[in-house]
Amino acid sequence: MKVVVDRKLCQGHGRCYDLAPDVFEPDERGHVQLAVTGELPAELEPDTRIGVRNCPEAALRLMPDAALNERGRVKTGRINPTILD
Ligand code: F3S
Repeated sequence: MKVVVDRKLCQGHGRCYDLAPDVFEPDERGHVQLAVTGELPAELEPDTRIGVRNCPEAALRLMPDAALNERGRVKTGRINPTILD
């Protein structure tokens, strides 16, 4: 699993890094940036889901690797990029 951030949607509410500080952190403007790179460790998935679900701007998604291309961007086409429960 990987976390995908749409930085254009982030308004700096900060719920994500308050709820999952091991995964999300603020940049110099208070907007989200990732504190982890690459594959999300399994032990961080529960807090990550909470952080993702609590973003009021829907700027965060938790995605399986199969839904991302080699640059970590969401593939278009037949894969439905929904938040997984
Ligand atoms: Fe931004 Fe949402 Fe977090 S608006 S700071 S991604 S809670």
